[in-house]
Amino acid sequence: MSEHDLKLGVLASGNGSNLQAVIDSCEAGRIKACVACVISDDARARALERAEAHGIPAIAIERSTFDSKKEFEESISAKLDEHGVELVCLAGFMRIVGKTLLSRFENRIINIHPALLPSFPGLEGQRQAFEYGVKVAGCTVHFVDEKTDHGPIICQAAVEVEEDDTLESLKERILEKEHVIYPRAIGLIAEGRLTIEGRRVKIKRD
Ligand code: GRF
Repeated sequence: MSEHDLKLGVLASGNGSNLQAVIDSCEAGRIKACVACVISDDARARALERAEAHGIPAIAIERSTFDSKKEFEESISAKLDEHGVELVCLAGFMRIVGKTLLSRFENRIINIHPALLPSFPGLEGQRQAFEYGVKVAGCTVHFVDEKTDHGPIICQAAVEVEEDDTLESLKERILEKEHVIYPRAIGLIAEGRLTIEGRRVKIKRD
């Protein structure tokens, strides 16, 4: 880890396989970033165990222990600050990010969504796409704004739907692509190669 690495704060509610992909990319030196802390809104999340296994501060902050969303997000924000977080990465964080976090980390929160946005935002993007009958599914990394799964798109990967696909087999192939594009998007940000121009994210060449 170098002192110039971009400090990431990962928010995750569940399994944390995307978190794992990010940790692995950081540890292998494929991206100039490091995971400074992992925060979950569920103390039982596997994501917290994954963080601990890599010596990364793993923090549970549960919504039910706060009277308001504002106080909940202030507490998350304080932890992110304490760990010097520069970029917040949502990785299966099952809550809508509100004004408190958005204003504290303006254009510095990103998310991975398991569908080709703007198609199929919201819960279970893969299921929505599969049941709709699309021939090409995929995943999207985007900046987070005040609307769900809506901010400027950083990168996407397509996954062809095969004749014999089940929802489970399709989900699995989408997840494999997620594990590739999420670290890649973070790497681009870490190298300072992205600029946001309205809805468009411009990527500087190497
Ligand atoms: C992924 O499918 C991601 O796209 C979505 O939530 C899921 C999280 O999976 N936002 P994991 O916890 O990273 O394994």
